[in-house]
Amino acid sequence: MTLWGGRFRDSLEDSAWQLNASIAFDRRLAEQDVRGSQAWAKALCNSGLLTPQENAQIQAGLETILTELREGSFRFQPKDEDIHTAVERRLAELIGEPAGKLHTARSRNDQVATDFRLWVLEAIARLGASLREFQSVLVQRAEQAGALVLPGYTHLQRAQPILLSHWWLAHFWPLQRDRERLHDLRKRTAILPLGSGALAGAPFPIDRQALAAELGFEAPCANSLDGVSDRDFAAEFLFCASLIGLHLSRLCESMVIFTSAEFGFFTLADAYSTGSSLMPQKKNPDLFELGRAKAGKLVGLLGGLLTTLKGLPSTYDKDLQEDKPPVFAAYDTLMELLPALSGALATLQVNPPRLAAALDAALYATDLADYLVEKGLPFRLAHELVGKVVRLAEERGVPIDRLPLEVYQSVSPRFEADLYAVFDPLRSVSRRRAEGGTAPEAVQRQLAQAKALLAKVETQDNQSISSDGA
Ligand code: ARG
Repeated sequence: MTLWGGRFRDSLEDSAWQLNASIAFDRRLAEQDVRGSQAWAKALCNSGLLTPQENAQIQAGLETILTELREGSFRFQPKDEDIHTAVERRLAELIGEPAGKLHTARSRNDQVATDFRLWVLEAIARLGASLREFQSVLVQRAEQAGALVLPGYTHLQRAQPILLSHWWLAHFWPLQRDRERLHDLRKRTAILPLGSGALAGAPFPIDRQALAAELGFEAPCANSLDGVSDRDFAAEFLFCASLIGLHLSRLCESMVIFTSAEFGFFTLADAYSTGSSLMPQKKNPDLFELGRAKAGKLVGLLGGLLTTLKGLPSTYDKDLQEDKPPVFAAYDTLMELLPALSGALATLQVNPPRLAAALDAALYATDLADYLVEKGLPFRLAHELVGKVVRLAEERGVPIDRLPLEVYQSVSPRFEADLYAVFDPLRSVSRRRAEGGTAPEAVQRQLAQAKALLAKVETQDNQSISSDGA
């Protein structure tokens, strides 16, 4: 049974059927479809379009379908074109004639947009929760890092000493912004298309405010034409997912680098690393390489949907059926990635001697310039003088902390014996105590801030995680 057979003499060719059908992927919207139909039946009843008895039959039938879906006993039929067809077909099997009244004033156009928004709302909540767990691993790692210092890098060249805790937390904030971005997306996703009909709106006095409230939406859409064709929420979801992927990829890249023999800052737990089929000694950071790669996939999914949406004529077009696979794929990708990566981070071993060995004296060149600033020199001049010191050390083939005092004094008489105190990791980081800096006390404040954000329970988010699973 199709939902649209009346005007056709012949049935669809198999190949045309295959291309047209969306059941292979939109069956994932089954529970949302049932919930949407329950609310719609109630609205029809309130408008006098269903008798209370018909409504009760429909509600009971839909409830049975929900149970069948959850128990896995719901049988899809070969002729179920999409999830809406499947649910309506089953309802008719269960309750007979009243099932035919459910679709009054409704179109699959407003129906599918509603189902999909319900699904995305739940996906936002689940993804937010998973991100939050990931962030809490970063916080734990920061707490465990104590006073360990490593080189901070710019251009992947050693730059200045930083606290390892500060480094871990640098990856907390991008994900915090991602979580906030997802949360913000809720309000644009929770706009109800149902009641827009195919495009022109409902011809009966449906209380769309009540309908919106019933389904947990903030408001009905203001324009039915826009309502059935707006997929901004899907594109925005994919953008959020892409940015999460991108943030993870940067962290992953650091992990690939830091676990290499050349750096050796971290060692991965066996449970989160993989071997080579040929080289017996290999222990590879595959998970982090995959994390790096998935960002490309996510960005591709976003680009794909944006391209599909571009230039579509008003209002609903079948192209819009292609909105769901990329969103499902992006969600699945991240929900698979996040726990694996956070597990790998939680269990890796930090190698303090390797961190310490990487702290060469050149990292303190800026501290040396600041030393001259404290002796009254303008920073620009101090920078120039320390540059000379670095050049002299290079010429002599010694690190700058091994240059004798006379050499320093030949560059500037402001240099005195106390200059050598500058070559101390803790002294260096401790000076950067202004807000956001790498000093232990500043990082403690940052840590407290991060923990407060994690503790802030986003009740709204949690409420929309239902038991079924997005
Ligand atoms: N499977 C369709 C989709 O996902 C449902 C809406 C179909 N509407 C239509 N007029 N053919 O978009």
